Amino acid sequence: MDFLVTGGTDGVGRAITRHALAHGHRVMAVGHTAEKGDAWLAEAAQAGAADRAVFFRADLRLVTENTRTLDAVRGWTDRVDRLVLCAQRYQTRIGHTAEGLERNFALSYLSRFLLSFGLLPQLRAAGASLVVNVCGTGTPVGRLRWHDLQFTSGGRGFQALMQAARATDLLGVAFAGHPPTGGLPFVLYNPDVVRTNLQREIDQPWRMLAAVTLALRGKPVEEGVRPLLRLLADPPTAALTAFRAAQEIDLQGRRYARSYRPSDAQRLLEETNRLLVRLGHPELGAR
Ligand SMILES: NC(=O)c1ccc[n+]([C@@H]2O[C@H](COP(=O)([O-])OP(=O)(O)OC[C@H]3O[C@@H](n4cnc5c(N)ncnc54)[C@H](OP(=O)(O)O)[C@@H]3O)[C@@H](O)[C@H]2O)c1
Repeated sequence: MDFLVTGGTDGVGRAITRHALAHGHRVMAVGHTAEKGDAWLAEAAQAGAADRAVFFRADLRLVTENTRTLDAVRGWTDRVDRLVLCAQRYQTRIGHTAEGLERNFALSYLSRFLLSFGLLPQLRAAGASLVVNVCGTGTPVGRLRWHDLQFTSGGRGFQALMQAARATDLLGVAFAGHPPTGGLPFVLYNPDVVRTNLQREIDQPWRMLAAVTLALRGKPVEEGVRPLLRLLADPPTAALTAFRAAQEIDLQGRRYARSYRPSDAQRLLEETNRLLVRLGHPELGAR
């Protein structure tokens, strides 16, 4: 099978790519840092998988870099069996990309939107394919700031981080409800608390809170990805499922009523299409 794994050079993504290479699959890993990519390629070569491993360096916070990634994937394969979206960098201070987008929104949501909808032909060509959005699903906090999704008029960094978490959940709902995806399974997967580098750029007091949580509940990455490896080997048949580790989340449950609301998902999809038009990329919208 052909795997595309964003954030495949570290943490959860690296555990997935290692496992996929060890099982004879072809893997393209996308990451931001060239050194990590080189290390990942060296490890693949040592494991005898050099001819099946490709690293692509991109800053997925930028729309232009996502289009470059889409082109690279299309040049590498005409089928994507497993699309695993892991690239992440939590930011607790408001900041914007060179394209003017709030950074959490750009990486946790928009990049994942662009890659999952953008690779639909390749996912469909693969037949029994699967998209996995590795995120914090099952944490019913965070609101969409509909009047100012990019936090251009200020706001708090933590709100932006939580907005992105909500948006990436809604991406799953939008993808599953979008007729052209034809019921292609999309999984929202939360590895729960695993020991990775993810928290390294967050500010106090969140950094302290994360350190305590990791110390009390942090699992090794290999343990956190085990249920995900099972899902990758044997995908669910439903168009949308969500898991926190091995525990399936009841998407209809009252506790999560706001997290996965179809009307919000549709509204966000339409806002995203409009945003892409404003950015000069109407062709990247989901229609
Ligand atoms: N760790 C946890 O406890 C936990 C809990 C719940 C959910 N999750 C979710 O699990 C997923 C994976 O997180 P992780 O813990 O594995 O994080 P991680 O160890 O920090 O790995 C993040 C990966 O994303 C890449 N990346 C970051 N910014 C990028 C950019 N702008 N463009 C391209 N690639 C970029 C990193 O590459 P570089 O280092 O080269 O930038 C790295 O390969 C995330 O979506 C996260 O929300 C994790």
